[in-house]
Amino acid sequence: MPTIETITVIGAGAMGVGIAQVAAMAKFEVTLFDASHAQLEKARVTVDGSLERLVKKGALSASDAKASAGRIAVALDPTAAKEADLVIEAVFENESVKRDIWKKFDALCKPEALFASNTSSISITQLAAYTQRPERFIGMHFFNPVPVMQLVEVIRGNKTSDATCQAVMDLAKKMGKTPVQVNDYPGFVSNRVLMPLINEAIFAVFEGVATAVSVDDIFKLGMAHPMGPLTLADFIGLDVCLNIMDVLHQGFGDPKYRPCPLLRQMVAAGKLGRKSGEGFYKYP
Ligand code: 3HC
Repeated sequence: MPTIETITVIGAGAMGVGIAQVAAMAKFEVTLFDASHAQLEKARVTVDGSLERLVKKGALSASDAKASAGRIAVALDPTAAKEADLVIEAVFENESVKRDIWKKFDALCKPEALFASNTSSISITQLAAYTQRPERFIGMHFFNPVPVMQLVEVIRGNKTSDATCQAVMDLAKKMGKTPVQVNDYPGFVSNRVLMPLINEAIFAVFEGVATAVSVDDIFKLGMAHPMGPLTLADFIGLDVCLNIMDVLHQGFGDPKYRPCPLLRQMVAAGKLGRKSGEGFYKYP
């Protein structure tokens, strides 16, 4: 079975930073790669803030927090991934962006390295086919905020080997997570079920059935969801939600997955949720 000691995370967005943090907390040596210097600077601040939060509530000692932060190296140069045992990609949810990344890293990483994509819905079999190592390619789908959410959805592609799957299941457990294994299919399980719920909530607002606040209240108070579906959509990013709906719509060819026109319009207007300052709610 492949041994994993060093991990490179590609992409210093919210997910990549969270993944780097939990891997470092589990004592792996982590390199966080991003092409943007500013993004890497921001990543350091985010990790420090999150670790401090854990220290404050007594979940982590101050010395462990310091050691964890120290295990994360940042890199602007992709060759930093050359010796990684595992590469986890967490770049923007777009197939051609991920294709280019995987082709590049496949050429420079050692042949025995395992590759995992944190894609929310794009086919693992398709992404694996962009590399020369489809049997060592798998989906590792983390949930936001990564330091808090317990689940890793582990997605087996058509050619993923048993050894790769076992190594990644074990790794997720070492990271303090609970892995749940599924097969490759549009949206896997999590987003096949979650995104149509969010999309339908947007339709309810679009068709004037209720306000965003009322829709959210119904789910918070009636179904004990920690966030209503529209707050959650803002939290995930409306652009990400739209991309996932497009993958479901295309992948199943079923009109029940059509993205709500209001979702498309808000994304076109740059209302992407929390990260842009406005979505269904305003974030001054
Ligand atoms: N780092 C460390 N700890 C954090 C944290 C972070 N980044 N963010 C929150 N926390 C901790 C807090 O310290 C707190 O811990 P405590 O309960 O032990 O004191 C706990 O999480 C709750 O945080 P807050 O009190 O600040 O805030 P809330 O009670 O409002 O909870 C939330 C925030 C955890 C985000 C909660 O609202 C929630 O669970 N929301 C739903 C999140 C969700 O569904 N995520 C999945 C999205 S789907 C996805 O990611 C997949 C993709 O493919 C689309």
